[in-house]
Amino acid sequence: MNPPTRSRSILIAGNWKMNSSLQETEKFFSEFKNYTDRVFNDQEISHLKSQALQACIFPSFTSLLKAPLPLSFPVHIGAQNAHWEKKGSFTGEISGPMLKEVGIQWVLVGHSERRQFFGETNLTVQKRTESLLKQGFHVILCIGESREERESGKTKEILSQQIQSIPDISAISDPHLILAYEPVWAIGTGVAASQEQIIETHQNIRCLLSEKIGANLAETTPLLYGGSVTPDNITSLLQCPHVDGALVGGASLQPESFASLLRAGSKSLLFS
Ligand code: PGA
Repeated sequence: MNPPTRSRSILIAGNWKMNSSLQETEKFFSEFKNYTDRVFNDQEISHLKSQALQACIFPSFTSLLKAPLPLSFPVHIGAQNAHWEKKGSFTGEISGPMLKEVGIQWVLVGHSERRQFFGETNLTVQKRTESLLKQGFHVILCIGESREERESGKTKEILSQQIQSIPDISAISDPHLILAYEPVWAIGTGVAASQEQIIETHQNIRCLLSEKIGANLAETTPLLYGGSVTPDNITSLLQCPHVDGALVGGASLQPESFASLLRAGSKSLLFS
């Protein structure tokens, strides 16, 4: 397959979930710095510096302050969740202003594990997304169908419902919305969606998005793929049309592995 013409930048985001202590986070960044200083070439550094290639890591809340060390290129740090209210009686939650106070500009919203284990619904995802976008955050909103939903032919219907829960962003100035398509059956299973499945689904998502937020905004909204992405399969995933990067769990936890994902992102830009 010929690589598509790419006008967007590439984003490689690492979702660390409930992994990596403070000490492990410090170790990651120190090894990541040593490794990237040694192996990244000028092209890769220049892609990262110009933000044609963006790197972002979502560590645990306690590690937000520890990451990253000064590197020779930017690595954005984000929170794995945030509440829609700015303060109040919401035990166990964290607010946008609290994150901003410690320099955080990126937030992950609606990950399937939050939907599955913590009662997150399309409505709460919508409230979080709307509030955080209005506060100027870069929001990665996760969507995706379960295995049963795919097997019973309901993928498009489920994605459509999830996309319907995107707030009306036409009124928000310069909304930094990013969608991550993560089929639940591909998360942490070692079996990523096939190129065919990703091509078809991302095409559908772009159309549904266009109906929801208008063609212009839909066209400039990055669409990531997530679910068992590794350094071995990322190159073929990034070749799929409408794939603007990856949201990566397990393979983002090791410095060399995360660096390899970035190098693949940089290579894919050369086909733009
Ligand atoms: P995985 O997780 O890469 O380990 O499959 C992806 C995610 O849950 O975001």
